[in-house]
Amino acid sequence: MEPSETITTQVALQKDRDYIVRAWDSVAEPTVIVEGDGAVVRDLDGREYIDCSSGLFVMNLGHRPDKVIRAICEQANRVIQVSMRQTTLPAIHLAEMLAKITPGPLCKTYYTTSGTESNEAAIKMAKIFTGKYEIIALKNAYHGLTLGSLAATSSASYRSKVGPLMYGVVRAPNTYCYRCPFSYPACDIKCAREIEAILKDEAWSTCTEKNVAAVIIEPVQGAGGIIPPPEYLPMVREICTRYGILLILDEVQTAFGRTGRMFACERWNVTPDILTLAKGVGGGIPLGAVVTTSEIAAKFIHATTPTSSGNAVACAAGLATIQTLMEENIPARAEEMGQYLKEGLSNIEPSEYVGEVRFLGLMGGIEFVTDKKTREPFSKKQMALLKQAALEHGIIVSTSGPLGNVFRVQPPLTITKEQADRVISGIEQALRVVASA
Ligand SMILES: Cc1ncc(COP(=O)(O)O)c(C=O)c1O
Repeated sequence: MEPSETITTQVALQKDRDYIVRAWDSVAEPTVIVEGDGAVVRDLDGREYIDCSSGLFVMNLGHRPDKVIRAICEQANRVIQVSMRQTTLPAIHLAEMLAKITPGPLCKTYYTTSGTESNEAAIKMAKIFTGKYEIIALKNAYHGLTLGSLAATSSASYRSKVGPLMYGVVRAPNTYCYRCPFSYPACDIKCAREIEAILKDEAWSTCTEKNVAAVIIEPVQGAGGIIPPPEYLPMVREICTRYGILLILDEVQTAFGRTGRMFACERWNVTPDILTLAKGVGGGIPLGAVVTTSEIAAKFIHATTPTSSGNAVACAAGLATIQTLMEENIPARAEEMGQYLKEGLSNIEPSEYVGEVRFLGLMGGIEFVTDKKTREPFSKKQMALLKQAALEHGIIVSTSGPLGNVFRVQPPLTITKEQADRVISGIEQALRVVASA
């Protein structure tokens, strides 16, 4: 292996193509990142970028967080991995911390190694606890790529050619107010009421076998930053309770300060029966967790656990991350910087292409349209050009959304105002490139 100084970007990218399976096509070359610091990452040629993807929405404290690195090194010097038939102090302390900071009766943690695995485990827990097998999931949902979570994920491109997937997923509408035919608040939150209609077999376009175990929802949909109206989650919670169905909240992406609270569900005072976590829970080291009640945990006697679940280094990193988030009041900072970015991005020019800018804390999405009245979305080609132009202006940002016309703006929660200004101006300059193309 060549040290980074002696390998060129061209050679590195060729080796990347030769040896790494990326499972996608027709996207721009990856950027070879060699180091990061806070909201900034640097490539092999020394170019700097603001990372609005936070390492795929993991690095909430930013890149190279001192206290987390210290915790990782100290733990790695003691013990890295044990069998889950033994235990370690970081695994115990992180589970205790999660019991303390998650709402209501959530108090028991089952460790996994990723978000998809957390959702698989949550679905199994719900099935075992209720003795039922159907799961209600939303349109535009992303819950992971393994065959159970993938069944709850809605994107056709991820699902095609690998079926049949887990049986029994029933689809409900998502809370896409910007393109909903029923306008808020006159809609009377039809999207939540539809879940009850599904349970009563009165839904417009779907039915169940009257065997629903749970509803699984991301409090804010990661694909497109789709924020529900304030009534939505409390209504869904109430419906689930009334019908004896479990509510699984997938906070793989929204937890740990991202939406301006430690957990997004706090924003609406909603407590799920099962909370799924990954990404930030390991402070950048792969880890997942399912946090649930004693009653549900007691029935989840499922023989064993994944090999690397509760890895000691990952738990130590996660614990240091949570402690830092709390000590430095980072969720409040996310709230403030989210508002700052929302205001700045709402005023970029040419404004006729900015359909909607939505932020909850630092979970942001900008929806680009060719016409504000018709809301005609930017094409795939325009979005590819926009993303490439943003990269050339020093901004790493990902494209998403039900129509593929949304920039996800989710930088580390520690982003400074000066860096946020660079994001606003970088995206504005990129938009001008597309406007003049
Ligand atoms: C909301 C949500 N759930 C689940 C997942 C899957 O997590 P992982 O990629 O760690 O399996 C993701 C990943 O992006 C996610 O955003």
